[in-house]
Amino acid sequence: MLLMRTDHVPVLADELAQVLDPRSGEVAVDATFGAGGHSKRIAEKIGPDGLLSAIDRDSEARRRYDEIEAELPCRSRFIEASFADALAQLAAEQVPVDMVWFDLGVSSMQIDTPERGFSYSAEAPLDMRMDPSVGVTAAEIVAEWDERRLARTFREYGEERYSDRISRAIVRERERQPIETTTELVDIVTAAIPTPARFGAGHPAKRVFQALRIAVNDELEQIDLALPLAWELLRENGRFAGISFQSLEDRRVKQFLAGLARECVCPPGLPICRCGHVSEAKLLTRGGITPTEAETDDNPRARSARMRAALKIAGATS
Ligand SMILES: C[S@@+](CC[C@H](N)C(=O)[O-])C[C@H]1O[C@@H](n2cnc3c(N)ncnc32)[C@H](O)[C@@H]1O
Repeated sequence: MLLMRTDHVPVLADELAQVLDPRSGEVAVDATFGAGGHSKRIAEKIGPDGLLSAIDRDSEARRRYDEIEAELPCRSRFIEASFADALAQLAAEQVPVDMVWFDLGVSSMQIDTPERGFSYSAEAPLDMRMDPSVGVTAAEIVAEWDERRLARTFREYGEERYSDRISRAIVRERERQPIETTTELVDIVTAAIPTPARFGAGHPAKRVFQALRIAVNDELEQIDLALPLAWELLRENGRFAGISFQSLEDRRVKQFLAGLARECVCPPGLPICRCGHVSEAKLLTRGGITPTEAETDDNPRARSARMRAALKIAGATS
């Protein structure tokens, strides 16, 4: 497999280490191992008595784990599965966890491996599966979904203004010949949108690629399933962090944590609180933490990152 770049700069790594506050002997769960940059940082702090469970559904991430396992200064294991499945598996073990984090989305390793089809900048088959052994590819979606479903996907998952025009153009083109590569799709999208939009902010196919990637990998459903599972794993005073790269992910993390941090769930309008609800979380990052200018200068991919974190309040666990 051709890798264009294997170096990986973990995003918001100092900030993550700060909110997770790892200590010697603690139990950590990295729900999105990727190239292991964050795991390495945390492993150094939890040390030989600590335990790291590293999760990723991409077998390339497992390969990377196998490469660096010996360098990790803690006990560790890799679980190759979707994070929703892996976290359910960990819950069954009933080992209290001190910290869990998500660094959502696609990894540099995935984007920089052109033949996986995540990048609109390189010619490749339209695949985009994080786990290439299961599920439908982006090419299958583009070939099979009807025009309305494609438009809805581009609108909802890509926040694409020209979703109707693009889906119409796709359907027209696929009647002539199958759309099989990234560049074919880029050309169709570019031709379908108004000329000024081709020169607007970002690549014209960026939003369509994001939408397809989210659909192919069921990303939002995975997040909705995984966040409560991750929270359940935490012991009292356990720490949670989620790094997102786009608003659909970030909104989910934000709302999830805000729900846990709420002190009262009485219907609005009641003069006094009667619910007796106890808040489960203390927010550690009001408004979220974004990268410094120095970080985005070094690593432009960090630009859209936002991290939210919370502490599980003593007494919240049953
Ligand atoms: C942004 S990268 C993580 C980078 C990592 N923090 C590092 O320092 O190298 C996201 C990773 O999460 C994985 N991933 C995304 N969604 C997943 C899911 N639902 N289940 C398991 N892994 C997932 C991807 O395969 C990718 O490797």
